[in-house]
Amino acid sequence: MKQIAAEARVSLGTVSHVLNRTANVREPLRQRVLEAVAALGYQPSELARGLRREKTSMIGMVIPDITNPFFPAVVRGAEDVAFANGYRLVLCNTDNDHSKETAHLNALRAYRPAGLIVIPSNFSDLTTQAQSYREAGTSVVCVDRTPPHWNGDTVTVANEEGAYRATRHLIQLGHRRLATVVGPQHLTNAQQRLAGFKRAVRQAGLSVNPEYIQESTFDKLGGHAKAGVLLRLLPQPTAIFAGNDLIALGVLLALHDSGLRCPQDVSLIGFDDLDFAEMTNPQLSSVYQPGYQLGATAARLLLERVAGSINVARHLVLETELKIRQSTAPPPKSAQPIAAPRATRKRGPAASRRVRL
Ligand code: RIB
Repeated sequence: MKQIAAEARVSLGTVSHVLNRTANVREPLRQRVLEAVAALGYQPSELARGLRREKTSMIGMVIPDITNPFFPAVVRGAEDVAFANGYRLVLCNTDNDHSKETAHLNALRAYRPAGLIVIPSNFSDLTTQAQSYREAGTSVVCVDRTPPHWNGDTVTVANEEGAYRATRHLIQLGHRRLATVVGPQHLTNAQQRLAGFKRAVRQAGLSVNPEYIQESTFDKLGGHAKAGVLLRLLPQPTAIFAGNDLIALGVLLALHDSGLRCPQDVSLIGFDDLDFAEMTNPQLSSVYQPGYQLGATAARLLLERVAGSINVARHLVLETELKIRQSTAPPPKSAQPIAAPRATRKRGPAASRRVRL
């Protein structure tokens, strides 16, 4: 730093302010410092800086699994915002395993990150972990799902409403035997999607048959296995809402294995709207959730916290969008209720419209 100060003909303090962005330095002086830095090939030690400030310009991002096609967009959104603001993002995968998540969180603490963005694992202990981060002045933002008793910042999507709209779409097509393969019910987003499914079914005057609700892991294998269970039921459902697109992919394979056609025999709708939704045969109807925006919004919120500009917990909820493609259509004629003759149709009270699934 002394060499830079000499080369730029400024004080040591000015060099420090420019490099650490701790005060506004007049532009001509700032330029001289930056030119001297370039001329001398100076590379600041992030480690030394971190030790002095007890914080580095690193943001830790802890997610379930980068090979799950939903998560790359979330990470990319967070990284773009971090990079644009002079921060670097370090990624850790938990494989949805809470003990691995805890190990990552413990290890990251030693690197003095500026903040953390976390998509909690199954049975996450993030609430306890985050407390010690906060005590050290490090903020934690939760994305996509919320762990139990969480009282910090969150960025999620309108899961309940998205699932409600997907199910209502199936009902509007004429389906009455509606089933779902939902995600793990200890995860908040999976719970909310099931709540949305139930709301639409009940609102249509139908009752929710517990057998038509199957819980799965958020993946293709789980979707395949649980769709197998649904397709063995009598009467068979005519429409399935899948808790995410990977589950939907498994359902699609199970339909194929059973010799059933989608959507002619069974309609199917997913959640996420991943890229492959347009590549399946038939193309998959789905609920789009803005993965990139989830990550970008979380990073912006975290940086606001780092700057100390907010002090109460914020809960940001992003909108979803229904994407209707080829996998949803009216139920097969054989499954459609036979229209009652006019005279009898008139006397049916509202309750008689309740159909046991
Ligand atoms: O597998 C990805 C799914 O889990 C998505 O639906 C996302 O919301 C996540 O929690």
